[in-house]
Amino acid sequence: MVYSPAEDSWLLAEHVPEPFGSREFLDLGCGTGVVGVTAAKKGWRVTCTDLDPLAVESARENFEQHGLPGEFLVGNLFEPVRGRRFDVIAFNPPYLPTGPEDKKAEDRIVWDGGPDGARLAVEAVKSAGDHLAPGGVMLLLASSLGNVKRIVRTAGESGLTARVIAGKRLFFEELVVLEIARKNTF
Ligand SMILES: C[S@@+](CC[C@H](N)C(=O)[O-])C[C@H]1O[C@@H](n2cnc3c(N)ncnc32)[C@H](O)[C@@H]1O
Repeated sequence: MVYSPAEDSWLLAEHVPEPFGSREFLDLGCGTGVVGVTAAKKGWRVTCTDLDPLAVESARENFEQHGLPGEFLVGNLFEPVRGRRFDVIAFNPPYLPTGPEDKKAEDRIVWDGGPDGARLAVEAVKSAGDHLAPGGVMLLLASSLGNVKRIVRTAGESGLTARVIAGKRLFFEELVVLEIARKNTF
């Protein structure tokens, strides 16, 4: 199942900045490519990646529909962009806390965030520093249903800073956009 854009997708898309640096933008876990399309319309050079080949195909079709250029790669997290750096990495990961009973759900690729909802986010944050260009930022969607504190702690342990730049309260959760960047150490 390819994730249909929802409140989380739109909140992240709303916070795509104007192009800077080398204009390299990674839409990680792209789904339909809604965040990447927003970025490409602003002038970013967008690479879309997803573990699900159907999602990558859907993103490619949506870029074509909008007459926008893009690069489309299938694979786990940063594996398809090994050795590459980006000015912006946008990621709306699967973030729902799950238990063993959820393991059989066929569509869990879009929402299974592991026992504390932060599994994919934490994994991505651990490697983010290797893929951020100088001055680059990761924009990471997180939910109060998941362990946001663990994500922020992981950033600190990985030589990165994390701050909330936007939030949206919904009926049953609060969504936040975390901006993650390298610590200014010298
Ligand atoms: C909540 S959806 C977000 C989709 C889209 N970015 C949006 O905002 O509408 C999470 C996406 O992450 C993808 N995903 C799950 N595990 C992944 C992994 N290990 N590596 C890359 N993408 C993954 C899913 O296939 C899904 O498209």
